[in-house]
Amino acid sequence: MTLFRTFILKLSFFKPFENLITKSFLFKKLVKRFVASEDLEAAFKIGEEYCREGYLVSMDQLGEHVESTEAADTEAEAYTEMAGRIAKSPMKDKMNISVKLTALGMNLGDDIAKENYRKILDVCKPHGTFVRADMEDSPYTGRTVTIIEDLFREYKNCGTVLQSAMHRTQSDIQKMIGMGARVRIVKGAYLEPETVAYQQKSKVDEMYVDGAKKLLKEGTYPAIATHDPKIIETLKEFIEQEKIPKERFEWQMIYGIRRDLQKQLLDEGYNIRIYIPYGAAWYPYFSRRLAERPANLFFILKSLFKK
Ligand code: FDA
Repeated sequence: MTLFRTFILKLSFFKPFENLITKSFLFKKLVKRFVASEDLEAAFKIGEEYCREGYLVSMDQLGEHVESTEAADTEAEAYTEMAGRIAKSPMKDKMNISVKLTALGMNLGDDIAKENYRKILDVCKPHGTFVRADMEDSPYTGRTVTIIEDLFREYKNCGTVLQSAMHRTQSDIQKMIGMGARVRIVKGAYLEPETVAYQQKSKVDEMYVDGAKKLLKEGTYPAIATHDPKIIETLKEFIEQEKIPKERFEWQMIYGIRRDLQKQLLDEGYNIRIYIPYGAAWYPYFSRRLAERPANLFFILKSLFKK
């Protein structure tokens, strides 16, 4: 974990920093780079446009940590609305959904989140739309895995995300492989204690490659989600060596990050899905993106000193 990343993630919980980012004009351009739109319709159009270009997309209505059942219901309704829009789209086979279980009420109880997730899965199931539960920080890891284990018996269109930073991930990968559930593997975007997560970037990267290889060989249509060119090259060599067909997995990248690499993988004939975040509650998501790359903040600082 780099010092910069730790610093920004800690700072993101500090109200004046949040005010600076959400209220200042300085960050507008950068927010626009990472957040497709605050509005569902506009974001949906962007998603469809990506599909027309040949990409796959995952639509993510931004929001997390709701603290009332009413707010959780509202989030679930927004997701069922998105599911309805997808069902009617000519691009529906290229679109799926990502959701955070704390947006569906996990802080009020796992049953509330599970029932709201079930509502979305019910709308999506007849259309074959996949709905992935994003992975949040460590207090939610085991609970998310358990919800997937429960729901997967009934809904083959659910799956989750596993973070290579977490000590438990290799065993969760094995569990998901055993069940036949789809996994997106990521490095992990949250600040975690050393009791549960590797702190060294090199170790997180090493575990990423290990986990991704296991999923590519034995998993069900895994999603390899990274912008790391070195890891992508290593995995491409593995894919070739093991003769893994291109239709058996997909790459995933985030809207606004490494568009050159996204296009390169598309041109090479791989399945590549773009994660498209939208909605007004973008601050926590944006601060995680800010923390991932010092250059994002330097870009803002530079513009301060420009005439
Ligand atoms: P790494 O951080 O090493 O970056 C590699 C390169 O990518 C950088 O050198 C830079 O060029 C580029 N890059 C990365 N981040 C950037 C940024 N913010 N701005 C500009 N350039 C950047 N995490 C999680 O905990 N739970 C989840 O559910 C998800 N879901 C998810 C979905 C998808 C589709 C992706 C791609 C990622 C996630 N993540 C996530 C985030 C993930 O855990 C991780 O924090 C980021 O992907 C950054 O890690 P990289 O693998 O890209 O490598």
